[in-house]
Amino acid sequence: MGEIQVDRKKFLATVGAGALAAMTPEDKAEELEHYMIDVLEGHDHDHGHGPHEVEEDQERPSPPRGTGNLFQPSDRVFEPMPDKPTLVDFFNLRFAPARHVLQSANHALQTGQPEETVMACLLHDVVQNLIKVDHGWWGAQLVEPYVDERVAWAIRYHAALRFYPDESVGYEYPDMYNRIFGEDYIPEPYIERDYQHARAHKWYMDARLVTLNDTYAFQDGMDVSIEPFIDIIGRNFKVPKEGLGYGGTPSSHMWRTIANPNKPL
Ligand SMILES: [Fe+2]
Ligand SMILES: [Fe+2]
Repeated sequence: MGEIQVDRKKFLATVGAGALAAMTPEDKAEELEHYMIDVLEGHDHDHGHGPHEVEEDQERPSPPRGTGNLFQPSDRVFEPMPDKPTLVDFFNLRFAPARHVLQSANHALQTGQPEETVMACLLHDVVQNLIKVDHGWWGAQLVEPYVDERVAWAIRYHAALRFYPDESVGYEYPDMYNRIFGEDYIPEPYIERDYQHARAHKWYMDARLVTLNDTYAFQDGMDVSIEPFIDIIGRNFKVPKEGLGYGGTPSSHMWRTIANPNKPL
């Protein structure tokens, strides 16, 4: 066991040289993180980009890279959800194995971080099952009606903070970026604005800790059970009595979409 190794060549091959040249630095960084999470979760990463599949690829283009995991082409059969699903049901039936978020929450728990941080880590990337584009913002919106506002805030800003080091906590994401792409990374202006806003905010460390725990959450073959988090979820995530997706909140539809990826209604 150990951190998953990013094979630079293999990663670049999955993206494709043409696509890579057209990407902004931020797209590249996103792509790298998605790749690492997908490898960790055991998602097939060969549909479409390998050199041996070029011909087939031309006939059957890949979906946009920002498409969520539940909406990628696959033979997956979705197990039915209970009538009144809970967050734990979503973890077990839709997000599993969810290694990345569980490992990050586990690191927060084992190092004695506040319960709100554990909760934020547990939820910080689950929206990538739905959509990967702008996942900090989508992810915050997904959980906002059910959690403390600091938890949603931390999730919203972790996405921008990832691209900026903070030596005070030993966070060095941009180093890995340089190693893979061999260039300096300059985020787009809207990311920079969000970073500056978060940096000056009294809750800055809430979001920063999410990015820090993130770096401990790419451990190959390490399965973390949801069990140790069930009480924390009970205290920090308020599921409507009608079930998650049926409580008439501003994000209920997002949970229903995750529950029913095959339902075009
Ligand atoms: Fe993230
Ligand atoms: Fe993450």
